[in-house]
Amino acid sequence: MPSLFPRWMNTLPTVVGILGAGAAAAVIGGVWYYFTPSYWEVGYMPVQPGTFELTSGFNHQIHAGKLGIDCLYCHTHVESSSHSNVPPVATCYGCHAENRMKLPEDKKVEFIRTAYANNEPIPWKEVHILPDYVQFPHLVHVNAGVSCFSCHGQVTTMPVVSQQKSLSMSWCLDCHRNPEPNLVPREKVTDLFWVETDWMSKPVAERAYEGITAEILAESLMREPPEHCAACHY
Ligand code: HEC
Ligand code: HEC
Ligand code: HEC
Ligand code: HEC
Ligand code: HEC
Repeated sequence: MPSLFPRWMNTLPTVVGILGAGAAAAVIGGVWYYFTPSYWEVGYMPVQPGTFELTSGFNHQIHAGKLGIDCLYCHTHVESSSHSNVPPVATCYGCHAENRMKLPEDKKVEFIRTAYANNEPIPWKEVHILPDYVQFPHLVHVNAGVSCFSCHGQVTTMPVVSQQKSLSMSWCLDCHRNPEPNLVPREKVTDLFWVETDWMSKPVAERAYEGITAEILAESLMREPPEHCAACHY
């Protein structure tokens, strides 16, 4: 794995030797800061674009919760690509175009119409960010029956999405060593409410849905989740 660390780090010991102890502290501080930016933290919740007094221009509690729109309606790549995606303005506009919907407060969705008219994307800020040297294939997980719930929490009740898990290496490996408690029937992957209340709330041995048990799901995994370094690091 030659590219695990940036190349400049090879020269660190020399630099430290030349500059002495005071500078060493500064360099270590710099490295520390470099590796732990605030966006790798549980609870990370960047300020999202939008308008008005809304905390965010998009509310999952309303759309995915109250209205019950399926995650895949907007996150169309989740089960087909190694990268997930947020929807283009056109997806929002489909429901929020002037004449299609009489929302009580039209001003709250005006930014959608403006973006659409100007052919510009809405600049949503990324919430979940992994370092570049980590490879995370989104589709493999979703297709294996790992619910969004296990990695993103109960999104259907979130007015604003925030990071729920550490996304650390040990977080990945804990599940890879024992995936069974996190597997759900494939067609229930995006039914987060059901996953939390009807499946995860029961002991693993008692989980059953139309003849499918947690044990059957674990046995039918195509591959063992990997633990060797090269699986996740190039
Ligand atoms: C109507 C469209 C829509 C639906 C339905 C929807 N989302 Fe989203 N989602 C968005 C938009 C827009 C964003 C970007 C703004 C934000 O982060 O709130 C987003 C962001 C996210 C993020 C954060 C992504 C990041 O930047 O790391 C997660 C996780 C997420 N959605 C999960 C879900 C899950 C799980 C469901 C189903 C329960 C769902 N979404 C349903 C539109 C949607
Ligand atoms: C399938 C239809 C549909 C889609 C797609 C959709 N919305 Fe909505 N949206 C609604 C409905 C219906 C409401 C009103 C819900 C209510 O007031 O209970 C709403 C309400 C809103 C509001 C006002 C919410 C508030 O907090 O008062 C905003 C802002 C909004 N949507 C933004 C978006 C954005 C951004 C997207 C695209 C990522 C989007 N919507 C996609 C149907 C949709
Ligand atoms: C095994 C854990 C796991 C599962 C299961 C999972 N995700 Fe993610 N998701 C992640 C991680 C980790 C990232 C950050 C990826 C990166 O930075 O490369 C992410 C990123 C995202 C993003 C951000 C994409 C972007 O362009 O900003 C969205 C949206 C998302 N996930 C939605 C979902 C939805 C919807 C589901 C369920 C269908 C789901 N995820 C299931 C771990 C997971
Ligand atoms: C909640 C459980 C869970 C978490 C968390 C999780 N994984 Fe996985 N992962 C799985 C399962 C299950 C598989 C096996 C899927 C299969 O092969 O059918 C897997 C497979 C993989 C694979 C192999 C893909 C392939 O093509 O064979 C990679 C790479 C991977 N995970 C990376 C990660 C990384 C990186 C993280 C942390 C950021 C992570 N995973 C977090 C459950 C998880
Ligand atoms: C299942 C996926 C996965 C596997 C397997 C894996 N890593 Fe990681 N590794 C990660 C993730 C995710 C991070 C990022 C952690 C963070 O940002 O906090 C990481 C970070 C690192 C770092 C950066 C320092 C740190 O702790 O943040 C090193 C070094 C590293 N891994 C080495 C290894 C070695 C050596 C192996 C094999 C023994 C290995 N990794 C196997 C997912 C994995």
